[in-house]
Amino acid sequence: MTAVGIDAIEIRSGKLKLDLPNTFAPQKGDDPEKYTKGLGLQNSSFPDVYEDIVTMGANAAKRLMDRKGLEPADIGRIDVATESAFDHSKPVSTYIAGCLEKVYDGDFRHANKGERKFACVAGTQAVDDAYNWIQAGRHRDRAALVIATDTALYARGDPGEATQGAGAVAMLIDEDPDLVELSTHQGYGSMDETDFLKPNQQFPSVDGKRSMQVYLSRMREALEDYESVSGKIHLDDFAYAPFHTPFPGMVRKAALLAYRHVIRDTEHEDALADAIGRQPREEEYEDREAYEEAIREYMDALKTTEEYGAWYDEVVEPTLGLSREVGNWYTGSVHIARASALRDALDREGEFVGETLLVASYGSGAQAEIHAETLQEGWRAEIEALDIDDQLDARYDLSWDEYEDVHDVHEYDKDLDREIEEFTAPDGEFVFTGWGRMNERKYEYVE
Ligand code: CAA
Repeated sequence: MTAVGIDAIEIRSGKLKLDLPNTFAPQKGDDPEKYTKGLGLQNSSFPDVYEDIVTMGANAAKRLMDRKGLEPADIGRIDVATESAFDHSKPVSTYIAGCLEKVYDGDFRHANKGERKFACVAGTQAVDDAYNWIQAGRHRDRAALVIATDTALYARGDPGEATQGAGAVAMLIDEDPDLVELSTHQGYGSMDETDFLKPNQQFPSVDGKRSMQVYLSRMREALEDYESVSGKIHLDDFAYAPFHTPFPGMVRKAALLAYRHVIRDTEHEDALADAIGRQPREEEYEDREAYEEAIREYMDALKTTEEYGAWYDEVVEPTLGLSREVGNWYTGSVHIARASALRDALDREGEFVGETLLVASYGSGAQAEIHAETLQEGWRAEIEALDIDDQLDARYDLSWDEYEDVHDVHEYDKDLDREIEEFTAPDGEFVFTGWGRMNERKYEYVE
């Protein structure tokens, strides 16, 4: 079977930042450590006045195409994954293609364009669609451009306001990829859930605590489903485990559950038995309540063991680096978790070629998907080419009043009675310029 996977990746952050412990927490009357230690976040990225899901996606895609020396003729498919679309009919991919056609010779008339929706898991689903299209031999030697782009904003005052973010990840899916090959094995946990949704509204209706429970339940099912095709997985099978990261504290909870599952009935469980006992088995308890209480006690103890701490620090913690600095990017979130992990690998000894990542995606509503990816020869050059550190360093640091203005600017239905000036100057990028006669959004490239 042909090797198909992610050949290249580019990350584009919104150009503004909100400092959560220092700017947001005092306004909410919260202890800053709720953000840094509890949620695990330092900053959120926000789009400047002239940025949106199209500009961020198109800017990421342009850098990717330039770096890989691609022309529109090389791309046979453009799929955008987003939960921030502003149009129920015309897909964001058409806007992005329109932007790119302003700067390249040739056009994307031959390219199949679409938009993928299933909350945050849609980015991974779009990668899957591209994979299947190539494996089916329908791609005529062309690659697919997948762009996960979101402005993850919550209504002012919603608890989710602490976990906002804005950014895009562009990925080139191709044969003989330079970055990672995707596994054919996949596991799913999918169920009709009402935890986080946007029924014809821009900002989500969220049941925050329930959304966390649903995340954990669907992830567990996806892991079991994955194992049903791959066979039981072992702790040392994977170099890193990038998860969908709405905020790092969520991944901390998911990682502990995953660890408990993976070590069950292994020498790792045996090795910990003297210190914390063996894992409770349901059949040993009189009722479900007693069993769940025993599980909670086991998990509390497991969390404090050196073995778990060492595994977490090596396999999971490195996936959270970018998320701490940018917040939730919804569809892009698991893809920046992968990038964070590989940035960590750059600093570690070893080649990593042939090593595997266990990638755990998730979307509310709700579906988890788990698959494996194998690092390819060119992974190091691909990750070294990222300029995300420069982007993050250059972000404009919003004051509280400025944050309130920026939130208003990006609220579609808000009638602003005043003009909000941009905070940064566009430089060699696509920008939003206003609305056209059919209420379409319009864009230009600024040199
Ligand atoms: N020092 C250290 N830790 C502190 C602290 C302090 N001073 N104060 C609070 N904390 C801890 C809390 O104990 C808690 O951690 P635990 O869950 O481990 O106990 C954490 O900080 C957060 O505090 P709260 O639970 O009090 O926070 P909250 O109720 O204000 O909101 C939230 C948290 C529910 C996640 C909210 O931000 C939210 O609704 N977010 C949006 C929904 C979301 O992201 N859900 C995640 C799963 S769904 C998904 O993944 C899809 C998606 O992208 C949206």
